[in-house]
Amino acid sequence: MNPFRLDGKVALVTGAGRGIGAAAATRLAEAGAAVLVANRTRADADALADALAARGLQARATGFTADEAGCGQAVADALAAYGRLDLLIHNAGGCPWARLDELDSDTLERTLALNLKSCFWLTRAALPALKARGGRIVVTSSVTGPRVAMLAAAHYAAAKAGVNGFIRTAALELAPHRITVNGVEPGFVAKDRGRLSQPATRARLERYIPLGAAGRPDDIAYAMLFLASDEAGWITGQTIVVDGGMTLPESGQVMEDAWLQAQAAADAAARTAGGADEAAATGAATVAATGAATDAATDAAIGGAVAAAADGAPGAAHRAAAAASGAPAAPPPTGGAHRP
Ligand SMILES: NC(=O)c1ccc[n+]([C@@H]2O[C@H](COP(=O)([O-])OP(=O)(O)OC[C@H]3O[C@@H](n4cnc5c(N)ncnc54)[C@H](OP(=O)(O)O)[C@@H]3O)[C@@H](O)[C@H]2O)c1
Repeated sequence: MNPFRLDGKVALVTGAGRGIGAAAATRLAEAGAAVLVANRTRADADALADALAARGLQARATGFTADEAGCGQAVADALAAYGRLDLLIHNAGGCPWARLDELDSDTLERTLALNLKSCFWLTRAALPALKARGGRIVVTSSVTGPRVAMLAAAHYAAAKAGVNGFIRTAALELAPHRITVNGVEPGFVAKDRGRLSQPATRARLERYIPLGAAGRPDDIAYAMLFLASDEAGWITGQTIVVDGGMTLPESGQVMEDAWLQAQAAADAAARTAGGADEAAATGAATVAATGAATDAATDAAIGGAVAAAADGAPGAAHRAAAAASGAPAAPPPTGGAHRP
């Protein structure tokens, strides 16, 4: 038997017109589910549903408005389209950046409605259908809020932390109905638009991701597919962090050290290529030197590296750290260097 099949199931996916939601809708449809692609920008929902249908998969499109009426309508559209509902995937979300002193009440309210309140509105609307056969609720949360913090994102972080509270409590309440409630917490997933996905900013961010690259929508979508599957039937009230390890380092200094150690390893490898005997001698010296040099160099470099990173020059922090260590500058580990 193939695992993670969803044949005969009906899924409603919000925010499905692009990004993570489009990837999730695609993977669910490929797994055999009939998918209602719900998106605020209806044209994107139509385009994806048409593309999936052209591949012989089951998909239809509808709009999505993040208020109580809009959530009820999306659920009603799923039932009208397919006659049942098994998988509720609330993925629509976003962060209109605003520092606390510039955050107006309207932005706060819209952010809470989209990311948090819609969980309640969608679940309430979907409950009668989900209770009929049991089902799955999967919500796209974030590491921002539940685990870590971002500047100008207190409203978004509070909403996503609230999402995790919703997941745990809804899981408890709905367990008797054989409905599981879980979530994914993405780290930085690059988009085709947006401030953080600009090439220079993205390159700078990737230096702080241990696996060396930004996430792809599919990295999140496959975790969502798993949580939506029968195979995840004994998991509820949980979230899976999918972040390339970016929330693991205790501080930025950990990653600065990692760059310096990678540099020392690269130097040793280059010397090995130049001659085994010479490499043996140099490698031993490098190992001995690196420990002492790394600490001192990192201490010396952090000020300059942080300043360089702040000025927005890609690779500047790494070069500053390398220069202070006396090592030749080399590119930091970016672009999927470590992605298995
Ligand atoms: N990308 C990341 O790094 C990251 C990290 C952590 C969590 N997340 C979460 O992942 C989810 C998907 O994000 P993404 O990265 O795929 O971003 P995206 O490409 O910007 O997609 C966002 C989706 O949400 C919809 N949406 C945004 N504002 C809306 C509103 N006011 N009303 C209704 N729909 C709205 C968008 O609809 P339109 O197409 O009509 O704009 C779009 O479908 C979100 O919940 C986000 O918070 C993302």
